[in-house]
Amino acid sequence: MLGNKVVKATLFVSMLALVGLTLPLQASAECKLVATQDGSPLDIKADAFDTPEAKQFLDTCKNPYIGNEAATKRGQKLFQLYSCTACHGGQAEGAVGPSLHGPNFKYAKNATNKGMFETIWHGTNGGMGAKGKGLMDPSDPENGLTPDEVLKIVAWVRTHSKTFTGNE
Ligand code: HEC
Repeated sequence: MLGNKVVKATLFVSMLALVGLTLPLQASAECKLVATQDGSPLDIKADAFDTPEAKQFLDTCKNPYIGNEAATKRGQKLFQLYSCTACHGGQAEGAVGPSLHGPNFKYAKNATNKGMFETIWHGTNGGMGAKGKGLMDPSDPENGLTPDEVLKIVAWVRTHSKTFTGNE
């Protein structure tokens, strides 16, 4: 009898510990995206994050496509399709726009994948237009990159960075 009580008490205490551990984890898990221009919150509908990888990014602020060969290949294609090459060069080495290789960036936050996502999605005040879907082309809300596509572009851009991945 006594043994049973001890087991129950132990179970209860472990459950409490589990709740205590998971609650703060969940609360801090959500990635709060902000504009590069002024740090104001980015209002992107949750259902725009329509792949498991995009959802994971929204939960963790980490880019799951880093080092994924298929994704980086697609990212390079998108970099060409969206004319990033015209301003940043075919290898993102810089042209009229800055090099994207890092580790030093015009906006320091672009050393992180969260920061670079925010810059590509919402643009800057200095000549980099917003490329996010619904923002890029005011005449067509369907035009522009999805969050998943932005993550693939960032993953390709990071293949040029030898010392960091942006997920640090
Ligand atoms: C019309 C030219 C142009 C195009 C097209 C363009 N950019 Fe840019 N981009 C710029 C300029 C200019 C800057 C510098 C912005 C500033 O100083 O505020 C910049 C800045 C950036 C930065 C921040 C770099 C840093 O050092 O902080 C990133 C990341 C970036 N662009 C990614 C992209 C991607 C990805 C695309 C394609 C989807 C793209 N850009 C398309 C001109 C362009």
